[in-house]
Amino acid sequence: MHVFVFKQAPVHKRLRLCPCRNPALPPSLAPKRMILLLESPQYLLPALQNLKYDSIVRYSTIKMVKSKSWTMVKHFEGLPKLEDFKLEEKELPPLKDGELLLESVFLSVDPYMRPYSKRMMKPGDVMIGSQVARVVESKNPAFEVGTYHVTNVGWTTHFISDGAGFQSLPKEWPENLPRSLAVGAAGMPGYTAYFGLLEICNPKEGEVVLVNCAAGAVGSLVGQIAKIKGCKVVGSAGSDDKVTYLKEIGFDEAFNYKTVNSLEEALKNASPEGYDCYFENVGGNYADVALQQMKQFGRISVCGAISLYNDSVPATGPYIQTYMLFKQLRMEGFLVTRWMQRYPEAQKHLLKWIAEGKLKYHEHVTNGFENMPAGFIGMLTGENIGKAVIKV
Ligand SMILES: NC(=O)c1ccc[n+]([C@@H]2O[C@H](COP(=O)([O-])OP(=O)(O)OC[C@H]3O[C@@H](n4cnc5c(N)ncnc54)[C@H](OP(=O)(O)O)[C@@H]3O)[C@@H](O)[C@H]2O)c1
Repeated sequence: MHVFVFKQAPVHKRLRLCPCRNPALPPSLAPKRMILLLESPQYLLPALQNLKYDSIVRYSTIKMVKSKSWTMVKHFEGLPKLEDFKLEEKELPPLKDGELLLESVFLSVDPYMRPYSKRMMKPGDVMIGSQVARVVESKNPAFEVGTYHVTNVGWTTHFISDGAGFQSLPKEWPENLPRSLAVGAAGMPGYTAYFGLLEICNPKEGEVVLVNCAAGAVGSLVGQIAKIKGCKVVGSAGSDDKVTYLKEIGFDEAFNYKTVNSLEEALKNASPEGYDCYFENVGGNYADVALQQMKQFGRISVCGAISLYNDSVPATGPYIQTYMLFKQLRMEGFLVTRWMQRYPEAQKHLLKWIAEGKLKYHEHVTNGFENMPAGFIGMLTGENIGKAVIKV
């Protein structure tokens, strides 16, 4: 893109391209000067030569970057639909000092986007979310071109930032690991599994741990971390392929909660003695049944409630107080951000376990930014084994 700044609007008849304001121009100059942004100025050069030289104040060639974003058209009703999303495009202004331009390389789709869209967004907003992004241009000495960072700017391909709030990928990121893990097993879902299990359930060797959504981003890690800690692990998931996967990654027992005759029976068969720890991702009816299978002094870490996220009317159900009381249970909800200061510690452990082969990861990759809404909906309906990510 070529930028011509004129003292006043050129009057030559052949210059008929629409003039537009350059946002980089100081407001004091903007009203006085005319900017022409030309994709291909060659055919206009003769015309430009006819203008008096000093009417061109500045001429430069700059790279204009177009950024694509997915916005939410209206609040979701039930399961999100493709028509609830709109792809929008805008041109980014040139960088100012202190700024950097980044491109998203991997974007994360996560269940929290469903309930948080209601709490944090209004129609027309860019969908919330995080990504692994690469610096492509920098006017900030603290951020080198080519470095990767986890950022939280939503469903967007390119963006300008001053770098505040970035979680930078370690320089020594292992060659053999995809950087998408920074929003997966070695990122937020990994931290969720790590802290949610270890800090709240505090599982001891020999104890029995139950986890649902077990083949997903968080659940598959919870089960494996519990195995690292010497526990017996039971997991449930929504397809036979997922059950096979759980067995492959070391779960002691696994079942398809969609096809068992009775969840109660399946839980009893998997661990007749009951459960010491329950890592809860699903909520609703599942939780009503699972709570009854807890052992005395069992600990429940409430990480998520995905079975309830699409409800328009809050569900009611059997009430839990009697199980909590007579089994003397301890239940605690958490948001992973509680441990934000300790993310580096968790990432170090997770990367070490991955390198040692103790923690296996799987990714469900949707190719193409244009397919992001489909990838999101697919994750909510259980298409994914492991972490659902979008590769731009
Ligand atoms: N507290 C926190 O800070 C925090 C952080 C991250 C995630 N979370 C929570 O952790 C849970 C798992 O998140 P994730 O990122 O690892 O997602 P995920 O498990 O990779 O993907 C979502 C999975 O949910 C399952 N699912 C969808 N609808 C369901 C339903 N009605 N009943 C039972 N299962 C259903 C599907 O698996 P199936 O095929 O097995 O049904 C789907 O694959 C979510 O509840 C999420 O909100 C909480």
